[in-house]
Amino acid sequence: MWILGIESSCDETGVALVRTEARGGWPQLVAQALHTQAAMHEAYGGVVPELASRDHIRRVLPLIQQVMQQAALPLSELDVVAYTRGPGLAGALLVGAGTACALAASLGKPVLGVHHLEGHLLSPFMGAEPPTFPFVALLVSGGHTQLMCVKAVGNYELLGETIDDAAGEAFDKSAKLLGLGYPGGPALSALAALGNPQAFALPRPLLHQPNLDFSFAGLKTAVLTQSRKLGDELAARKADLAASTQAAIVEVLVKKSVKALQHTGLKTLVVAGGVGANRMLREQLQKDCQALGAKVHYPEPELCTDNGAMIAMAAAMRINSGVETAQKNYAFHVLPRWPLAQIATA
Ligand code: KG4
Ligand code: ZN
Repeated sequence: MWILGIESSCDETGVALVRTEARGGWPQLVAQALHTQAAMHEAYGGVVPELASRDHIRRVLPLIQQVMQQAALPLSELDVVAYTRGPGLAGALLVGAGTACALAASLGKPVLGVHHLEGHLLSPFMGAEPPTFPFVALLVSGGHTQLMCVKAVGNYELLGETIDDAAGEAFDKSAKLLGLGYPGGPALSALAALGNPQAFALPRPLLHQPNLDFSFAGLKTAVLTQSRKLGDELAARKADLAASTQAAIVEVLVKKSVKALQHTGLKTLVVAGGVGANRMLREQLQKDCQALGAKVHYPEPELCTDNGAMIAMAAAMRINSGVETAQKNYAFHVLPRWPLAQIATA
């Protein structure tokens, strides 16, 4: 079965083609194409929703053509067209949903709307060493920070989540305060590599609470206070401040993930979402999980941030496991706010 996936929930237009019944049962990624709008939004210091929707409209059809050409597959061979149904920016989601439904309707093929976070969560199954169920998942993106207990495809129990900013947001907002542009995560972590992570004592909220919740809003205030205190010295100490900020975010993510493994008794951790590309997070998780006898799985680095492959993959896994069937129902209803734990009732 050939499944086309379209992602358009935020500032990346992603399209990919997967084939099921290959690679010992797991779907296989055959072709993919991506356009990132980061440069367009950089001037505004964040994503401008209206610009994002308009750019998705411009990009999505050429990307679909590119993917089908890469795979040398005519559109008529597609079995299912999948798209991101939510959560995300309403206008941006509508572009992907509208395109997917129009394409599927013109071909007489079924469609399937996918949860964006389920896409992130299942993306390590495209790697060389797929995890096995059940596992704990740490979802760390620009909009979400959650720990989930994943028992099977479609069976997700929320263990804890951020009560304010997401981890990616903490990276992005701190980076903005340090004048590092948008999106700030990769820039801040590159600068952090040159600094001393112990230079500044920044807060680690909720670290010692028994629950598995996170809070990152106070961190940007602490970074702002610290940078104001430094005044003229800031330029010379920027790498130290970046390193200390990264260390604070990473320590909380690692300690809470370890706590989630201990709480559930599980020995597998899956890390997904854009912040999963962070090198320090990967190194620390590796170390702490090894000490627990647990294994950590990541998507391939280029599949950590938003892409069409994870949407096609999640659709394939939902269909293969019998959780959902794609329908020839082309009336679409996007869900900008859609908690993953409520996926079965949407
Ligand atoms: O999953 P994603 O592509 O989009 C959302 O669904 O939000 O995640 C984007 C987030 C941004 O906040 C970005 O700064 C962060 O992931 N990010 C990183 C790194 N690469 C991307 N944060 C820290 N270190 C990185 N290397
Ligand atoms: Zn995402």
